[in-house]
Amino acid sequence: MRLGVLTSGGDAPGMNAAIRAVVRQADALGHEVWGIHRGYQGLLEGDMAPMPSRACANILQRGGTVLHTARCAEFHQTEQRALAAAKLKAAGIEALVVIGGDGSFRAAEALQREHGVACAGIPGTIDNDLPGTERTLGFDTALNTAVEAIDRIRDTASSHGRLFLVEVMGRSSGMLAVHTALACGAEAVLYPESPEDSYENLVSQLNANWLRGKRSSIVVVAEGDTVGRAVAVGERLKLDHSLDLRVVVLGHVQRGGSPTAIDRIWGSRWGCEVVRRLDRGERGFYVGEVAGALVAQPLARILEPQPAPPGDLGRLVSVLAR
Ligand code: F6P
Repeated sequence: MRLGVLTSGGDAPGMNAAIRAVVRQADALGHEVWGIHRGYQGLLEGDMAPMPSRACANILQRGGTVLHTARCAEFHQTEQRALAAAKLKAAGIEALVVIGGDGSFRAAEALQREHGVACAGIPGTIDNDLPGTERTLGFDTALNTAVEAIDRIRDTASSHGRLFLVEVMGRSSGMLAVHTALACGAEAVLYPESPEDSYENLVSQLNANWLRGKRSSIVVVAEGDTVGRAVAVGERLKLDHSLDLRVVVLGHVQRGGSPTAIDRIWGSRWGCEVVRRLDRGERGFYVGEVAGALVAQPLARILEPQPAPPGDLGRLVSVLAR
């Protein structure tokens, strides 16, 4: 069997581990893999080439994706998906492995449903916002990167007695924000799924901390928070309370860097599992992790609502900020 593999959407540390595992597990089972460059954009342009085992040497530890990636707006059109199906057929590719997040899996689901292309997914996004899996590749690395950065900010915040608002990524999900806040002992966190997500609540939390004698604070702000992005929240706080505060937007720093051991291990396990399932004739699924176990979900599960972070994490942040 000839398989195609692509990475799509925002890159995530651990994607290379998954690519390597797909290629080498396929090789071990007597299948051939073609690498498709620049995600669905490259597929539409026929930008693909055979990817032998040796092409995956020394990529396990590297961040980003050796296949490159893209956000491909054209792929929202069914005619473009038909063109992609034709390109795969012409190249003799019988099944497509998609490593990406929500948008990439939705595209794969449509490609299979409308045009009969056999698709399989490996969750790759720092946002950790996919239904049916408690982990996505890159989340652990991005979380550790954000925590390390905030530990550094903590030193200067406490030296100056300042308030820092630190914005983390996550698209419309607060998963990265709330885990970061808990891991770095933030005084408060703003994230969209929080039942207490309001400007007024933030102000009262900061006041309570001041009365307890805290002279510096870190507030983690999810980029998709409904109160506003960190810069806007900071401007409002400055106007209302004339505070000495600083804003840091961590941005794409969170997307780069060498993957953690956890992201390498899950990239490797998922890459192998996807190929083993395709080898057994399974189609239309994505792999994931639930309660520590490797699972597979029907591709159509991607259409379910985005999962919320565990309900107690936000509450723990405020309890532990005392
Ligand atoms: O989905 C991953 C992600 O990093 C989100 O957290 C963020 O909102 C988005 O991608 C940024 O995308 P881009 O790199 O295209 O600006």
